[in-house]
Amino acid sequence: PLGEQSDVVLKEMYTFTDRNEDELTLRPEYTTPMIRAAISNGLLNNLPAKFFGTGQMFRRERPQKGRYRQFNQINFENFGSDDSFADVEIINLASQLLKKILPKKSISLNINTLGNRENLQDYKKILSKYFKDNQNSLSSESVSKIDSNPLRILDSKNIQDKEIVLKCPKLIELISKKDLNSYEEIKVCLKDLDITIFEDLNLVRGLDYYCHTVFEFKSNEIGSQDTLIGGGRYNGLINKLGGKDIPGIGWAAGIERLMLLMNDSPTTPEDIHLAIQDPTLKKHAIKIHDYLIKNNLSVYWNYKYNIKKSLSLASEKKAKFIVIIGEEENIENNYILKNLYNGEQKIVKFEEILDYIK
Ligand code: HAM
Repeated sequence: PLGEQSDVVLKEMYTFTDRNEDELTLRPEYTTPMIRAAISNGLLNNLPAKFFGTGQMFRRERPQKGRYRQFNQINFENFGSDDSFADVEIINLASQLLKKILPKKSISLNINTLGNRENLQDYKKILSKYFKDNQNSLSSESVSKIDSNPLRILDSKNIQDKEIVLKCPKLIELISKKDLNSYEEIKVCLKDLDITIFEDLNLVRGLDYYCHTVFEFKSNEIGSQDTLIGGGRYNGLINKLGGKDIPGIGWAAGIERLMLLMNDSPTTPEDIHLAIQDPTLKKHAIKIHDYLIKNNLSVYWNYKYNIKKSLSLASEKKAKFIVIIGEEENIENNYILKNLYNGEQKIVKFEEILDYIK
C-alpha cells in the first residue's frame, strides 16, 4: 500500500530474516500499522475514530542533518470521515501543535489536492507521456522514474528537471468541480483560522496512498530536510488493507526535526528569583517556589546562593522580581519583594506575593 515504486519500498525498508526464518520488516511509517491494528482489534465500529501514536521508524536513507535511519514520529489519524472539516480539523491540530511548541518560528504550510484515485492514475499516464517527450532535458534519475513513478519527478531538486516540471500539465485540470469545491472550502476555513497557506500544485508526497488533500509544514531553518510534518487523505487505503471502505486522513511529525528547532530557541529566563538569607530558610523558600509555580509563574532558585549572589544573578538574568526570605521577616511570615525594574521594595505576606507580582 505504500506504493511498490515509492522510494520507501524500493530503497528504504529494513527487511531481514530472523532466527526462525521469518521475514521481518522494521516499520518505515505508522499509518498502515495503525490501520492494521484498528482493523484487527475491531476499533473501526464507531466512526469517526481518532487515534494517535508515537514511536520509532526505520528507513535506510542517506543520513544527514534532520534525516536519520532510526527516528521518531508522532502520528495522528482520523478514520471514517470524508467531510472537508475533518481535513480542516487535522491540519489545524498540526498548526496548533507547532504554534505551541515553536511559538517564535516561522513555519509554512504547503497544500495541494490530488483529486480522486482515477484522476491520479490518468494524470500519471499524461505525465509519463509529457516527460517521455522531454526526456533529453531531464536528469538520469528522473528519466528512470518516467514509467514507474512520474509523480516523483515533480519534486525533483535538479535545476534542469525543475524547468521541465514548470511547464508540465497540471493535475488540477482533471479534478471534478465537486472535489475542487471541497478543496476550496478547506482552504477558506484554514484562512479563517488564521493559518497561512501556500498552494503548491506540484506537492504529491512520497507515499503512494494519498488522494485529495495533501500537506506539509516546513521550516527554512533546518537545512534541506525541511519538512516537519507531512500528511494527507488516504481514502481507499483501509479497504486495501482488509477493512471496510472507510476514508481517512492524518499526519506525522518528525520528532528529531522538531527538536532541531526547539534546541535552537532561546530559553526564556525565569521572571521571579528567590533568595534566602540562611540555609535554615530553605523550607520556606520551597513553599514559595511551589506556590508561584502552581500559579503559572516561572521561578528560579539557586539553593546554594546567599542573598548577594542571588541578587546579582537575578539582575544578570534580567528577572522581573526577587523574593527575599530573611530570618527577621520570616518570623512574621513577611517577605521582601523587590521589583528589579524600578528597584522598589515592599514587605509582603505570603498570601500577598501573587497580588503584588500581578
Ligand atoms: P512522511 O512524510 O514520510 O509521512 O514522514 C512524516 C515526517 O516524519 C516527515 O515530515 C519528517 O518530519 C519525519 N521523517 C521522515 N523520514 C525521516 C527521517 N529519515 N529522519 C527523520 N525524520 C524523518 C509519513 O510517514 C506518513 N505516514 C504521514 C501520514 C500520517 N500520512 C497520513 N497519516
